Amino acid sequence: MHNQFLASFEAQVFSTTTEQSAPSNIALIKYWGKFAGQIPANPSLSYTLSLCKTLTQMAFDSTQPFSVKLYLSGELNLGFSQKIETYFKSIEMYLPWILMGSYEIQTHNTFPHSSGIASSASGFGALAQCLMDLDKNFGSKLSPEEALKKASFLARLGSGSACRSLYPGLVEWGRSEELEGSSDLYATPYPSSDVHEVFRDFHDWVLLIHEGEKSVSSSVGHSLMHEHPYGETRFAQAKANFASLKSILKSGDLQAFIALVEHEALSLHALMMMSSPPYLLMQSGTLETINRLWAYRKETGHPLFFTLDAGANVHLLFPQGPSSEAIMQFIESDLMAFTQNGGLVKDRMVF
Ligand code: DP6
Repeated sequence: MHNQFLASFEAQVFSTTTEQSAPSNIALIKYWGKFAGQIPANPSLSYTLSLCKTLTQMAFDSTQPFSVKLYLSGELNLGFSQKIETYFKSIEMYLPWILMGSYEIQTHNTFPHSSGIASSASGFGALAQCLMDLDKNFGSKLSPEEALKKASFLARLGSGSACRSLYPGLVEWGRSEELEGSSDLYATPYPSSDVHEVFRDFHDWVLLIHEGEKSVSSSVGHSLMHEHPYGETRFAQAKANFASLKSILKSGDLQAFIALVEHEALSLHALMMMSSPPYLLMQSGTLETINRLWAYRKETGHPLFFTLDAGANVHLLFPQGPSSEAIMQFIESDLMAFTQNGGLVKDRMVF
């Protein structure tokens, strides 16, 4: 229980509707492994995307008993409704009015489902924003900054990485001596004054290698880190990588950034391969893309590189700059062959 977020309520509300959105995010330093209560085993750092978002409309009716009906892209989804009902019950101590009515939630993503773009991050981000907006009707006295911090806290309890989706730009989550104000309980915006301009206008083009459900969920992946032979080493490595990244972000050393970000992505997948039982989320298209991309970078020197989420799809990263046109052409002409259905989602982060 976290006292700073406990609450009581004063006002009574009957029925009200709110509409909120949150973007997805892509981690550069990965959160992989957690302790009870969604406490991360290491600090993580992500870019919040701009165009890949979840839009959520929530209608609350306090004349009805507690129930949740969630419609995903217009269709009632019983599995998600049940999941959100359980989530609401789990956060009652932080929003004491939450079980006092019925919810009809309409939600949709601006990007394809199961595209490897984390819809749980944007989904819980938008949901937490809706809840904090409803909270105002119950007499909440939180300032906008405090309400955002609490939204990040609540989103984290739904899905860890979701807490980072509440802020734009580069966002950190997890207690670290490297970042003042950082916490295991909510995300902290990474100060843009400490980020060189080369990192402040970046493309993320997601190559959809595989569009089905993943064979192993992130929750299972996190839990396999407990008995993992390299668990402790990984947590120490992520902490050290965060310290290195801090100085890279400041100095603008793009080559060091590329090396570190790719190393993080490959470490994540290496951990999966060394879990017990082992598993693989990369597909042949993932490997072919990486090899082709490396060859292109060697030939041209253009700063195209990649990161991976817990899935087969490849996030192609490159800064806006003199080579971005050439890089875009290369992706469209040479990398689309590795996708399952020609899927490519283009996003860009400017801050
Ligand atoms: C590989 O946040 O999806 O994307 O907390 O169990 O919901 P839960 O896991 P989740 O894990 C994300 C893992 C990752 C890395 C990252 O986003 O930092």
